[in-house]
Amino acid sequence: MPHKRMVIVGAGGFAREVRWLAQEVTAARSPAEGYDFVGYVVSDPAQAGPHDSPRETLGDLGWLAAHPDAWDVLALGIGNAAPRLKVAGELEQAWGPECWPALVHPSVKLDAQSCRLGHGVLLCAGVIGTVNLVFEPFAMVNLAVTIGHESVIGRAACLNPTVNISGGVTIGAGTLVGTGAQVLQYVEVGPGATVGAGAVVAKPVPAGVTVVGVPAKPLVRP
Ligand SMILES: CC(C)(COP(=O)(O)OP(=O)(O)OC[C@H]1O[C@@H](n2cnc3c(N)ncnc32)[C@H](O)[C@@H]1OP(=O)(O)O)[C@@H](O)C(=O)NCCC(=O)NCCS
Repeated sequence: MPHKRMVIVGAGGFAREVRWLAQEVTAARSPAEGYDFVGYVVSDPAQAGPHDSPRETLGDLGWLAAHPDAWDVLALGIGNAAPRLKVAGELEQAWGPECWPALVHPSVKLDAQSCRLGHGVLLCAGVIGTVNLVFEPFAMVNLAVTIGHESVIGRAACLNPTVNISGGVTIGAGTLVGTGAQVLQYVEVGPGATVGAGAVVAKPVPAGVTVVGVPAKPLVRP
């Protein structure tokens, strides 16, 4: 099978990490398989920030429809949960599941027989999961995350580096779990919630609520 040409949606730091993830996946396969990077596309090139990659940005999302013969597959290089969920929904209308390969770094350990990976899932280097895990489409699991038995990682949810998810946990769609946070066994974190970096979540988190601290409590803003 020849290499597939990949466009990455997003052009910031996480998009560059997804490019590297695809390179690592390619390097671990036979020489004929894998992905060739074409470039980045973004929602609005005029709003590109200082951390984006202007020279390799092809254009806005309309570039995909305007150049259908220039690419084969897509990867979602957006590392923040709310925009990841939104853009996934928008693009999936036009470009179905077959356009979004799951990318699993060769160092990832999990029980492939009992775990289910949706399209567009990203599992970064050093992730360790065990058994009966469900990764809904576009879920993103960053570096060195651990995930225990029967946990469900919701659609476009983002687990930032070194998060620990205990067994039986449910992470809702579009939820962000910050770096180094821990979610204890059988706790449910609702859709669109945010868990602050370093938090220890011992009780359910309602949809859309931000929690921080040890033990995690709702963030109270003045
Ligand atoms: C929880 C979080 C989403 C809040 O972000 P925010 O809404 O912009 O909040 P602010 O930065 O304005 O902080 C509000 C208050 O919460 C406190 N706070 C923020 N994050 C906190 C955290 N993780 N733990 C404890 N307190 C935190 C701030 O110190 C501030 O307290 P103050 O009002 O007494 O000064 C964010 O701080 C966070 O932890 N995000 C995850 C970041 C991450 O994982 N980065 C790695 C990327 S790879």
